[in-house]
Amino acid sequence: MNTPDPLTEAFFSSTAASPLAVHHAALRDALQQHYHGKKHGRQVEWDTALAHLPVVVPSQYSLGPEGVSIGTAADMPLPKAEFKAALQAFSPWRKGPWQLFGVDIQTEWRSDWKWQRLQPHISSLAGRTVLDIGCGNGYHLFRMAAAGAALAVGIDPTRLFLYQFQVCKQYLPALAAHLLPLRSEQLPAFGCFDTVFSLGVLYHRRSPIDHLTELGTFLRPGGELVLETLVVPGDEQTLLVPAERYAKMANVWFLPAVAMLEIWLRRAGFVNIRTVDIDQTSMGEQRSTEWMTFQSLNDFLDPADPSRTVEGYPAPRRAIVIAEKPA
Ligand SMILES: C[S@@+](CC[C@H](N)C(=O)[O-])C[C@H]1O[C@@H](n2cnc3c(N)ncnc32)[C@H](O)[C@@H]1O
Repeated sequence: MNTPDPLTEAFFSSTAASPLAVHHAALRDALQQHYHGKKHGRQVEWDTALAHLPVVVPSQYSLGPEGVSIGTAADMPLPKAEFKAALQAFSPWRKGPWQLFGVDIQTEWRSDWKWQRLQPHISSLAGRTVLDIGCGNGYHLFRMAAAGAALAVGIDPTRLFLYQFQVCKQYLPALAAHLLPLRSEQLPAFGCFDTVFSLGVLYHRRSPIDHLTELGTFLRPGGELVLETLVVPGDEQTLLVPAERYAKMANVWFLPAVAMLEIWLRRAGFVNIRTVDIDQTSMGEQRSTEWMTFQSLNDFLDPADPSRTVEGYPAPRRAIVIAEKPA
């Protein structure tokens, strides 16, 4: 993807008459860094694999509570094993699951479980414009669009995830979901989104309160923030900064207790802050599969005490917090 792809262009044309149009020039500038920056080592492989996927109009699709399923095996001109191999060129598949033309992409994460945990607690997405910061391959964008969002924009800088999104989105080009390969720090202060999601991103940031503050700048007054992040047991004084790795991840910085996280949100200017879910991650939700063959949660926990990570920290536990930008 050396030049802007058609799906990114679809974002610009579909928002040309929206409040986002005033930010198009800034977004195009930021995207230049992605498209003209350093090439990823697997870029030629991915471009070739993408170009060779068959062009098919799915006879049916469903993006509802039963998951994301596009097309049937009968729609696909390739034999199932050949199509499966074509999809596996984009491995590892971490977020999903997806069912494409009869092939089940069993991803590392059951991202549908996260959606089930948060969905009952958020304002209806019907007719809303939503922004998903750090959206991975866009699995939740499909669920947001299916929930009635007028526009679901995701951003994520990881190149493979943009390809995976393109693989799925090309079969539903009219879906109001768009992924821009950007980092949140590159975004302008939109000030117009009805709902902003930040799921699984805060602990990757070195400056978490700055992240919360930037999320507020993307919302309209009265808009809703849906935040999901790793937390630890404790009170408003409890914060874990791993000495080195956390669950073998080197890019984890701040894990607060829920009470401290709520203070961060208040200090970042949010109101009506509610923690709606706390969940210990299970090996059913995060696991190795044939689509993600590297290590997973099972390898990140202490075999003698799975309530601890291999480093001796509390095992992964995630909180979902809803908050509002003052009206
Ligand atoms: C743990 S994954 C979460 C993916 C998805 N939101 C979910 O909950 O399943 C974190 C994602 O955040 C992205 N990310 C990390 N730093 C980011 C930043 N500064 N701006 C946007 N995305 C970022 C990563 O590329 C990665 O895809």
